[in-house]
Order: sequence, then C-alpha cells, then structure tokens
Amino acid sequence: MKITKKLLKELQDFAQDVSYEAGEILLKYQKKRHELKISCKGSEGIASEADQASEDYILKSITENYPKHTILSEEDFSNNKKVTYKKAEESEFCWVIDPLDGTNNFVNGIPIYAVSIALLNKGKPIVGVVYNPTSGECFFASKGQGAYLIDFRINPFKKYSLIIQSNEKEMKDCIFSPAPSYEKDKSFDQQLSVFKKNILGCRAVRRLGSAALELCYVANGNFDGYWEKNLKPWDVAAAGLICIEAKIELTDFSGKRYTPFDNSFLAAPNPLHSKILGKINK
Ligand code: IPD
Ligand code: CA
Ligand code: CA
Repeated sequence: MKITKKLLKELQDFAQDVSYEAGEILLKYQKKRHELKISCKGSEGIASEADQASEDYILKSITENYPKHTILSEEDFSNNKKVTYKKAEESEFCWVIDPLDGTNNFVNGIPIYAVSIALLNKGKPIVGVVYNPTSGECFFASKGQGAYLIDFRINPFKKYSLIIQSNEKEMKDCIFSPAPSYEKDKSFDQQLSVFKKNILGCRAVRRLGSAALELCYVANGNFDGYWEKNLKPWDVAAAGLICIEAKIELTDFSGKRYTPFDNSFLAAPNPLHSKILGKINK
C-alpha cells in the first residue's frame, strides 16, 4: 500500500486520539494507586492493573479500526508471545505499544510516565506518539513530516516543532540522562564504567524512569544526551521516530543506525553524539 501524506495524517491523528484516551485511563487508576494489583514479570519488571487496562483499550481501538494490522504490545507479548519480533518486523503494518512506560514511577506516584504508540511499516516506524497524561506533554511524529510537541499546560491548540540541528555545547554545559539497566549481570560493571566516563565533567545527570520520555526530552532539547541498554521495541518505537524527525542522531552503542529492535540506544545531536559514542567504546 502506498503511504501518502493523507494516510500518515489519518494514522497520526488516530494514534494521538487513542493515546489521550489511554492517558485518561491511567489518570483514573493513578487516583487509586495504593489499591492497585501489581504482578512481577521477573527480569522484565512489573505490571499493574493500569498497564493492562490501558493496553486493553488501545488493542480494542486498533482492532476495531485497523483489523488487518499486526499488533506487538508489551503485556500481550509477556502473556502469550503470539506476535514475535520477526512477525512485527515483516508485517506491512504493525502497531508497537507500551500502554504504560514508567510503571515503577506510576505505582510510586511519581508523575513521569507515558503511553507510547508507534506504527511500523515493514519494521520501520512511520508514526509515533508519546503522551504523558500528568504533564500534558504529547510528543508525536510521522515519517518525513517532522516531530512536534503539544503541551496542554500552555496551549492545547498549538504544536511546537522539534528540530535540533546540532549541539555545540561543551560537556561541562550538558545535562545527560544515562540509564544503567536493572539487570545486575556482568555487563552492569561495564555500563557503570560507561556511565562514569560520560558523566564526569558534565553539568548534571537526570534519570526519569521512562525510556520513551527520556528520548523525547532529547528530541525537545531538555536533555543533551540519553543512552540505555536492554530496551524493548515498545520502549523506543515511537520515541525513536520522534528523535529522528527532530534530527537527533540515534544509534546503538556500535554506531549502527537505529531500528526499534536493537538492544542499545544512544540519542544526542551531533557532534555530541560522536563524542559520547567515543567514550562508550573506549
Ligand atoms: C521501563 C522504562 C525504564 C527503562 C526500562 C523499561 P516499563 O519500561 O522505560 O525507563 O529503564 O528498561 O523496561 O517497564 O516501565 O514499561
Ligand atoms: Ca517500557
Ligand atoms: Ca510498560
């Protein structure tokens, strides 16, 4: 199928509307966060009733509107693995969903979490939305059409274009958001060493606890760089496209260009990206 601008706009509007509704569901659950049932998924972290309710709504909306499209969604994947990464990469259209990115923040009442919805065309993101219902920040992008932010706190009818061509800042002026992963395996020491090499001399370090929002904060210029390992496609499918459309350099730790199925991610505008990459691989 030919992907026209009209089709992209239709898909983008749909993804945004669905993310707003899913955000409302999360806000309702947030009010009763002390009573939430929480399940532990081993090395894959935790999930709550809110994750499931948000996901149920998103899956129902997609299935009703786009019944032929494939869906790869975090909780569904944890439960049955019916849609594999291979299928997601090969399908003409595959929605990649994180119904709640930042579950640890959510269950602890920290207002930094998001709904993340992406659409892939043969493995490549063409639409992405990352929406934080508590802050009212909605980041979105579609392929070749730029990346934008609607900030409901300022003006719900205005969209701000996110374009960061380069970042000539010196390390001492930078704020980084590096995220050592939770698993304490042998790569943890190596990650800590990368962490140390890159944060020494920078102005400040912030860790939000939502990979999708951290990437969007690089796209928006709030952070100068972000890197993390062991992420999943649903953490990065939407926000990755938002970074690319904002002209942020996004690669894995070997410098290979981004795909949502990679294992490591480094986002920063150039020339900073190359400086950080150099330290990661030193
Ligand atoms: C997690 C968040 C976190 C990242 C973890 C992810 P979840 O997603 O994005 O920032 O460090 O690797 O699993 O579990 O809250 O959807
Ligand atoms: Ca996630
Ligand atoms: Ca999640």
